[in-house]
Amino acid sequence: MTGKATTVKLSGGGRKMPYVGLGTYEVKGEEVGVALRAALECGYRHVDTAASYQNEEAIGDVLQEWLTSGKVTREELFITTKLPFIGTRAGDVAKFLQKSLQKLRVSYVDLYLIHSPVGFMGQHDEDHKPVDSEGNRVVDPNTDLESTWRAMEDQVECGRAHTIGISNFNSVQINRIMKGCRIPPANLQVEAQIYHQQKDLKAFCHKLGISFCAYSPLGAPYLTNGTGDRPPPLKHPRVTSIATRLKRTPAQVLLRFLIQLDMIVIPKSSNPDRIRENFQVFDFELSQEDMSSLEALDCGKEGRIVKLEESRRHHEYPFDIPF
Ligand code: A2P
Repeated sequence: MTGKATTVKLSGGGRKMPYVGLGTYEVKGEEVGVALRAALECGYRHVDTAASYQNEEAIGDVLQEWLTSGKVTREELFITTKLPFIGTRAGDVAKFLQKSLQKLRVSYVDLYLIHSPVGFMGQHDEDHKPVDSEGNRVVDPNTDLESTWRAMEDQVECGRAHTIGISNFNSVQINRIMKGCRIPPANLQVEAQIYHQQKDLKAFCHKLGISFCAYSPLGAPYLTNGTGDRPPPLKHPRVTSIATRLKRTPAQVLLRFLIQLDMIVIPKSSNPDRIRENFQVFDFELSQEDMSSLEALDCGKEGRIVKLEESRRHHEYPFDIPF
């Protein structure tokens, strides 16, 4: 990505996905309402949620407020939500998407993602983190990604989702979806940040026409010890020195870096000042030299922060192969 483009054209119909979206993982209730209002006020039009974040209703309230007041049109918004881990079965896709639409109070989402290749067995539709008597996550031994994908395609055909995609899938799983699909995935959402830059997976996706969205682009600082011995990305001396020289913040440098690598970013924040800061990344560019110095911080697979350990016992656990 070069220049000041603010959106990425998606495959299949050419819908445009904004490079910056508001991440909302585990931000709930009034907190997510404050965050989304601040985001919309300063120009965000892309919001990322998931059934398992349990904040779709609160997000729906704000969307409704903005849509009915005419401050924004539905066509201007880009709303992503995700099929929960407990819904990763062909027979459950329509039901869970309909529930999400009802909570978000919209008739379609712009992008519907399979949240993970790993399926869980919930006791009911809100049982997002089912555990057995020993405290282990109850995984679904029958997850069949190809048939789940066919049900995702049905959602596009009946208008509930304008585009569909996948999250936390590896290249082998993506290849399986690509083989024989009627509608290829428009987007892959995975962790990407300076220590885990996902170069191979991103190149693989771009070759297939799949756009690439980075979650935890700031390095998920709320995950204590996530980076091991390495400084948190927001505090890395190379990041802070570039930020000081360019009169930007470390977060802006980290986000701009990923955008210039042609990644969509969904930084999460519930603080209105930081939400505004994270959107001001289209009026400057990192030089090739700065890009190279940040690219050199990549630790490959070792740099992964979000490991989805609770999914490890499932036959589709995605993070055991190089990419
Ligand atoms: P807060 O909600 O208090 O702003 P990631 O998107 O990589 O998972 O990171 C999200 C975390 O980073 C949140 O804990 C958020 O805290 C913090 N954060 C978001 N934006 C910024 C920023 N501009 N500067 C510093 N920390 C930020």
